[in-house]
Amino acid sequence: MKPKVLITRKLPDEIISKIERACEVTMWEYSDTPIPRDVLEEKIVDIDGLFCMISETIDEGLLEKAQNLKVVSNMAVGYNNIDVEAAKRKGIMVTNTPGVLTETTADLTFALLMATARRIPEASEVLRSGEWKSWSPLGLTGQDIYGATLGIIGMGRIGEAIAKRAKGFDMKVLYHNRNRKLETEDRLGLQFVDFDSLLKESDFVCVMTPYTPETKNLISYDQLKLMKNTAILINTARGGIVNEKDLFDALKNGEIWAAGLDVFEEEPVPRSHPLLTLPNLVTLPHIGSASIATRMKMANVAATNLLQALQGETPLNLI
Ligand code: DGY
Repeated sequence: MKPKVLITRKLPDEIISKIERACEVTMWEYSDTPIPRDVLEEKIVDIDGLFCMISETIDEGLLEKAQNLKVVSNMAVGYNNIDVEAAKRKGIMVTNTPGVLTETTADLTFALLMATARRIPEASEVLRSGEWKSWSPLGLTGQDIYGATLGIIGMGRIGEAIAKRAKGFDMKVLYHNRNRKLETEDRLGLQFVDFDSLLKESDFVCVMTPYTPETKNLISYDQLKLMKNTAILINTARGGIVNEKDLFDALKNGEIWAAGLDVFEEEPVPRSHPLLTLPNLVTLPHIGSASIATRMKMANVAATNLLQALQGETPLNLI
């Protein structure tokens, strides 16, 4: 008997075929709508493997319903949507997709940083709406990127990839991390600083930490107040790391100059969210890893992890 697998979003045929060769597959047939919770609760009871996305909350209550589940394979590097400790207690493996999305996410982070600094969405809108009347000496002026100081909070793979891009713009790069990375500092010419100094000295602050109970609200009003009034905050990690109410206040009160967000505490962010009323906020719908090649790689890695676990091997990316 083949192991039973549930895939929570419609995936490209080549990924499904790869899994189907060894498993009996049930798939939620939509790519743009998440599987409803009640369907997930019903299906999880007798499956052996779950292939899921960050939009599914895999909590203890859900895991308790599973009778045969051996592996939860998340198609993402972040896994704050999964209660890993509860899974461990039940002997269920959890896997993720590190490495393959590093450069793509760093590209998007840098694109968001540049779009925010140079007000690109706003400028484009001025043109399209017919408001562009004339070249103007201080019209749509933004902040310089080259030569500025970038502070990266969290120096993992993606943090490093952003630092490399920043060096091409002659930026001074500061970082803060739980532990110092001396080899990375030497190789990329980075400077380790304490958290408050990073906030005070940087022109751009990039949040690149995983989302954990320790990093929830890591950037709140006190931290935003430490930043320069001309500074820009960029978050492509997870929404809850930045306190959204405090960010709204700081942007409104001019504590910081602008922010670029690819992630929100609640996703999709409600259209009525106060942050979306601000002109000095550039937003994206969580597309950090969204290149065709990278999403295919993530799906392939997630499929391999799933198959390895179901074949009794230790998956390459076991958390
Ligand atoms: C991840 O992999 O954690 C991203 O946020 C989704 O691409």
